[in-house]
Amino acid sequence: MAILGRELTDDAPVGATITSGTGARKPVTVPVHRYITHAFADLERQRLWPRVWQLAASVDHVANSGDVYEYAVGDLSVLIVRGDDGVLRAFQNACRHRGSELCSGTTAGNTEIRCPFHRWTYDLTGKLREVPSRRGFGALPSADYGLLPVAVDTWGPLVFVNHDLDAEPLGSFLDGIPDDSAFLGLDDFRCTFLVTIPLPCNWKTLIDGFSETYHVQGIHREMLPCVDDVNGPQQLWRHHGKLEQRYGLPSPRFRARPDDQAVWESFVEIMGTRAGVSMDGDVGPAPAVPDGNDLRGVLSGMVRAANEAKGLDSGAFSDDQLLTMQQYNLFPNVTIVTFPDLLSVVRSRPGPSPDECFMDVFAFERQPAASTAARAQPMDVTLPEGSELPVGLVLNQDVTNARRAQRGLHQPGFTKITLSSEECRILNLHRNLERWLGIAPSEIENDVSPS
Ligand code: FES
Ligand SMILES: [Fe+2]
Repeated sequence: MAILGRELTDDAPVGATITSGTGARKPVTVPVHRYITHAFADLERQRLWPRVWQLAASVDHVANSGDVYEYAVGDLSVLIVRGDDGVLRAFQNACRHRGSELCSGTTAGNTEIRCPFHRWTYDLTGKLREVPSRRGFGALPSADYGLLPVAVDTWGPLVFVNHDLDAEPLGSFLDGIPDDSAFLGLDDFRCTFLVTIPLPCNWKTLIDGFSETYHVQGIHREMLPCVDDVNGPQQLWRHHGKLEQRYGLPSPRFRARPDDQAVWESFVEIMGTRAGVSMDGDVGPAPAVPDGNDLRGVLSGMVRAANEAKGLDSGAFSDDQLLTMQQYNLFPNVTIVTFPDLLSVVRSRPGPSPDECFMDVFAFERQPAASTAARAQPMDVTLPEGSELPVGLVLNQDVTNARRAQRGLHQPGFTKITLSSEECRILNLHRNLERWLGIAPSEIENDVSPS
């Protein structure tokens, strides 16, 4: 029997602040079949994806009238449409005649949605407008044959959809995250590209890697001189989680504190462009630290100056905020990484088998608050498996880790994963999965039948 939920009661996650390193509790385990079996993936297909709010696109994908974006997850496909009236709507991607898919990918300038099969045509509000040889159908009331609606809403620069029209509103589903992140002004970010890459792991194996920083000392060792990977406070809401992590100072894991030169070299390798420093070639000596300051303060000043050079006002942010990552984990499959001048979103979608997923990376750039530049559709790119992502060292290390993280889960003696309190955001994912799938927290191993 794998007992889940020792760490957190149903009520405890709301607003709870967790610090890692509490040693008195026993580890929590989660059955490994959740990551490798078709039965569990089927349960997710039936009960999770059609019923949960999920990130579908950036606002930039559908900013202008006539923009249409297809979001696919498993066998579900949704069309997100910006109408002539400026209203955002979403529809199931199925023609009301014989069900053909209507559109794929991202398109702009549409004035209607026309089925390629027999050319039934819908307006951008989803209303049936035209049926060739209509009399052959007898009475065919247009009001009964509109595209099937999907719930859609936005938060900041992100568009969410939910097939469940009775689901709680997005604002409520997002718990305290909009308020918690308000100081970052996420509305000012524009999506510049969306990169998709297939990976040989379960969608949860991938997203779990963005729900803990325990693995920094495993696969991201280059980061250790410039990040406190141990003491970052975590917060759990009902559905979602958060980590705050401070950069510009060394990990407490070092017995001997690295000197400023080591911190500097690591910082430049991980995020030098934020401070206006090229990440290629010799980084040179660490900047001089004036009396009364420290290297972290100097790095904050460099980030502030680099932002000002780009027309971005950092006046609202403290030095500490400029070098502290806010990482939000949105149930079920999204991680949002932000600094005041940086927004990057990773989404994990299920693939054709439990051992496959799609990793989507949305890259954003902050615009000056007063910018009047029109939003434009980002560049969407799908890379073949094994490609190098154009998003820096750290994410590529996570990608490289995906295959071995998944393959080990298949070994016959390995029946459960074990979580520390530092990995509480992974546990929160499972607690929510249990609610959505209707399985008991203390389920019997390998039993995925509903309770
Ligand atoms: S399936 Fe769309 S018009 Fe026939
Ligand atoms: Fe990682």
